[in-house]
Amino acid sequence: MSLNTARLDRFLAQYCQISRRDVRLMLAKNRVLVDGRIAHDIDEIIDNFSHIVLDGQVIQDNASHYIMLHKPVGVVSATQDSEHKTVLDLLCLSEYSYKEQLHIVGRLDLNTSGLLLLTNDSRWSERLTLPEKKVSKRYLVTLKNKLTPEYIAAFANGMYFDYEDITTKAAKLTILSDYQAEVELTEGRYHQIKRMFGRFRNPVIALHRCSIGNLQLDEQLRAGESRVLNHDEIENINNI
Ligand code: URA
Repeated sequence: MSLNTARLDRFLAQYCQISRRDVRLMLAKNRVLVDGRIAHDIDEIIDNFSHIVLDGQVIQDNASHYIMLHKPVGVVSATQDSEHKTVLDLLCLSEYSYKEQLHIVGRLDLNTSGLLLLTNDSRWSERLTLPEKKVSKRYLVTLKNKLTPEYIAAFANGMYFDYEDITTKAAKLTILSDYQAEVELTEGRYHQIKRMFGRFRNPVIALHRCSIGNLQLDEQLRAGESRVLNHDEIENINNI
């Protein structure tokens, strides 16, 4: 859900079909609560996640939702697709009745697995995706050919992509074994990891996202499984 904001008096005037003068009287009589506090200011700005109560009746309660999914290979990071199963298809309606409201926070390629976040709170997803926030994403990469120490400097120095006319930001590559590396990126260019290893003519055999910021993929979740984020996990992103 994108964030819509409005002045409280406009919202109430429209909802109750009354004049803004009458809204003023309503507030003076302490009849309205916004997020649990008595509202006094006609010009208070509310949004579609504000909890609004009038005379003890909830008149707006749009809860925000945050989900982590272990995306399997072969499922597309989209809400609709004519060819492939989508990540939304993996969420069952009985558990996530609001699933049609969700959007994806930072897509993964069809053949990439791992941590994928979904939410209906666009303010929260912006915090994770704004380039200036430089939120790190860690990937486990399995390669066809042997890694060499040269890769480390090449990833750290950045690579020029002429198609977009950009140089990638410094990325941290750690060699885990002859054919496996961990790569940490702070941006998400199109097929970025595959293209970076492509410079060494080294095809990526498997790619798995392990974490976004300090949020790790829950090890209990098997491919295709999901769960809602807990309070601390949501707040950690808010404090980025
Ligand atoms: N880099 C890629 O090449 N693919 C992804 O899905 C993520 C990062």
